[in-house]
Amino acid sequence: MRFASDNTSGAAPEVMAAVIKANDGYDRSYGADAAMGRVTALVREIFEAPEAVVHLVATGTAANALAIATHCQPWGAVFCHTHAHVAEDECNAPEFYSGAKLILVPGDHGKMTPATLADVLARTGESGVHGVQRGMLTLTNVTEAGTVYTPTEISALTAQAKAHHLPCHLDGARFANALVATNATPAAMTWAAGIDVLSLGGTKNGCMGVEGVVFFDPAKAWEFELRRKRGGHLWSKNRFLAAQIEAYLTDGLWLRLAAQANAMGQRLADGLAQKGASQRHPVQANMQFPEWPEGAHARLEAAGAAYYRFPAPPGREAARLVTSWSTTAADVDQFLAAF
Ligand SMILES: Cc1ncc(COP(=O)(O)O)c(C=O)c1O
Repeated sequence: MRFASDNTSGAAPEVMAAVIKANDGYDRSYGADAAMGRVTALVREIFEAPEAVVHLVATGTAANALAIATHCQPWGAVFCHTHAHVAEDECNAPEFYSGAKLILVPGDHGKMTPATLADVLARTGESGVHGVQRGMLTLTNVTEAGTVYTPTEISALTAQAKAHHLPCHLDGARFANALVATNATPAAMTWAAGIDVLSLGGTKNGCMGVEGVVFFDPAKAWEFELRRKRGGHLWSKNRFLAAQIEAYLTDGLWLRLAAQANAMGQRLADGLAQKGASQRHPVQANMQFPEWPEGAHARLEAAGAAYYRFPAPPGREAARLVTSWSTTAADVDQFLAAF
């Protein structure tokens, strides 16, 4: 009953086996390892993007912050949702690495809309040399509210940014969960929808600690490499990162892991709904925000459940529950029984 975060799960056996295998013998360092070539080939095939370039880092914050720094000048604005992870949970790393300013775009259920984005875009960059310039757009999928953008919704947002010639980034810490939820192809969700650079999450969905940064415009990739080294995020033994992501992307493992996480999220949401709980946001992937009458926190915690409590109105209680690749139906059913 560990629903605090998908980060609290372990790594998938296939990923751990690949790491152990990568430990055999010697290999070249700093990304020149043999597995990195195979990772690039896999990414190009899976994303139907023969020119794509991928570089690896160990954390999602590094992936986002370095991708943003590579696409935004220090005088630029990074347009992100009000509750974006880059805005609320990265200790200003995007600002630190880029020197740019985050400008928040509102929207219900963790999603900006073309109208809210157009409004903020129109109000930015109009004071000439004295003011912040329009810089880039960053979206998150799965969103911080557990909802999912479809490729059509992403296209409508990137179209607004492209009208101002702005590059577009996608924080895909839970990218596989978003793909499974929408049944979209990786290509449809990214470059075909106007995304120039993707933070491709691995850690939350069964890796030990690896995120890919995928450049659909390879022209920016070398600058990223320089920033990654300068920022202290170039791993000498890159082969251990590459081994994880190679196993993750091979034979659809990443999608199978995400499908389990999403299915368990739905089982939990259905069970809670039957017992009278409401949800603050539509449950579309592996993260949900239920609300229920006072008393359940004590019962659940006494039974050993772990999750984050959220503020709630008087007489009510609220929570954030996250399922993962390793959540079982028994975990969910035990939680529902305790509830
Ligand atoms: C949407 C999103 N982006 C990025 C990250 C950052 O990942 P990390 O904690 O590995 O830096 C997280 C982690 O919670 C996340 O939820």
